[in-house]
Amino acid sequence: MTPLIAPSLLAADFTKLHDEVDLINRSDADWLHLDVMDGRFVPNISFGMMLVKAVDGICTKPLDVHLMIVEPEKYIESFREAGADVITVHLEACPHLHRTLQQIHATGARAGVAINPHTPVQLLEDVLEDIDLVCMMSVNPGFGGQKFIYRTLEKTKQLRQMIIERNLPTQIEIDGGVGLQNAAAILSAGANVLVAGSSVFKADDPLQVITRLKQCGQETLLV
Ligand code: DX5
Ligand code: ZN
Repeated sequence: MTPLIAPSLLAADFTKLHDEVDLINRSDADWLHLDVMDGRFVPNISFGMMLVKAVDGICTKPLDVHLMIVEPEKYIESFREAGADVITVHLEACPHLHRTLQQIHATGARAGVAINPHTPVQLLEDVLEDIDLVCMMSVNPGFGGQKFIYRTLEKTKQLRQMIIERNLPTQIEIDGGVGLQNAAAILSAGANVLVAGSSVFKADDPLQVITRLKQCGQETLLV
């Protein structure tokens, strides 16, 4: 199984944004992950739809937009217009999650649901059929460069089981603290999309790290 690799722009050098996006265009990455933070759902503020739109103008890969914001339903159409291909909302921020997923699908985007490290995967049971992607947070959202929470592997196995039992095509994305040191274990647990911020953009050779992350899946198959 070859995983999808989604480098997170949060760890990029914002003074050289065009170069950083060009690097992703030239790489083996599958998507570009964009972390939108509002200072309310998470204790940090990053960027909004204006930056997503600017990046969309220069990025050749699909944009995977992770909304760490309260009341995401107010902004879904705007992020879609800005160029989002996948729009992920947090379960913890959506009292009417099913309706919000319908709203995302109505724009033509793929719908993701992110869950925080403390949120059990069982809460997704009644909405799994309506989700294209589950983003499992393996750090507390809000900042790049944090340490991977290993309990996520157990949750990933449980979620993969739920998806197999229902015979669904749902993708499992792991976000936070992902790098070459834990990618194989994450993929063995059942994930198939890896978000990687610091491990890619802070590396001496980001292109090589992306290629090696993709190869981790093949190594997993051989084990
Ligand atoms: C955290 C974000 C992540 C973050 C990952 O709130 O959702 O996407 O950029 O960064 P690293 O890979 O550095 O943990
Ligand atoms: Zn993210």
